[in-house]
Amino acid sequence: MEVNYVKTHDHDLVPHKGFKLINGTHDPDDVDQIYNLEIRDSDVFVVTYPKSGTIWMQQIVLLLEAKGDLTAISKLSKNSNADLIPWIEVNGNRETFINAPSPRMRVSHLPFQFMPSALSQKKGKVIYVARNPKDVIVSYFYFHKLANMLETPKDFDDFFEKFMRGNVFGCSWFEHIKMWHSHQDDMNMLFITYEEMIQDLHSVVERIALFLGKELTDEQMANVVKHSTFNNMKKIPQANYEQVPGELLSHHQGRFMRKGTIGDWKNHFTVAQNEMFDEVFHREMADIPLVFIWDIR
Ligand code: A3P
Repeated sequence: MEVNYVKTHDHDLVPHKGFKLINGTHDPDDVDQIYNLEIRDSDVFVVTYPKSGTIWMQQIVLLLEAKGDLTAISKLSKNSNADLIPWIEVNGNRETFINAPSPRMRVSHLPFQFMPSALSQKKGKVIYVARNPKDVIVSYFYFHKLANMLETPKDFDDFFEKFMRGNVFGCSWFEHIKMWHSHQDDMNMLFITYEEMIQDLHSVVERIALFLGKELTDEQMANVVKHSTFNNMKKIPQANYEQVPGELLSHHQGRFMRKGTIGDWKNHFTVAQNEMFDEVFHREMADIPLVFIWDIR
């Protein structure tokens, strides 16, 4: 599918120490300093490979903090939940993190080696959200049309190849998850999957609350779940990113909250792509003691 519009941003990926940063969005020197940040026990980082449920987890963590009170969050965030839980690696955000009041909550797509070393001394908390990489590819393909800082792919086949080569922001999905997962025991980390959230959001939210030490009544907990379902988040401007300035997201090209389902890859992959992907997946993940529940329907 060809896209016939001109994007306004420079969208070069800049190689940086084995990773790729987005020109204009990330500053390599600034990103390098994230490693040395002092971390408080109350700090929370939501870490994801792009398109794995980042904004979903932003909404849940914010709601847990606000004890399910959606209006309290809406009053605090101007445009999007990223005002309250920003990406630590985006230009300027490391600086504001340093003196921000607790609890400091941030999201990140960075690989493990760039993140504050203090996390590996069990300072702060990390919630890692993983998603079936086949669905990540599809979601990321559509996001590239929407996001002005990323190059619009020629078609799905073109994007599939780029993703498999790690030639996208986030680089290799396999490296990202393997590196973070292999350090799980060094950190205070909760590892969850998008698919578990789709399957039973309530119990995942309870696990997150327990992990973060949040005590909510049954009613408050029910409100957290209610305001973080796909259909409800779609109606909440701060949560669904529709208020993000048009220079960053071309809203006429699609929605951040696109489908919110599992298994959409089946509508996009050819048989050959699927076979190739499975082969790579099994090779790359052979030594990882992870059992995924991708194939739940
Ligand atoms: P799709 O493109 O498959 O719909 P990220 O926030 O990491 O960029 O991930 C975006 C993906 O998460 C999108 O996937 C989006 O629709 C999905 N998502 C966001 N909120 C969700 C929710 N409440 N329930 C299910 N999926 C959600």
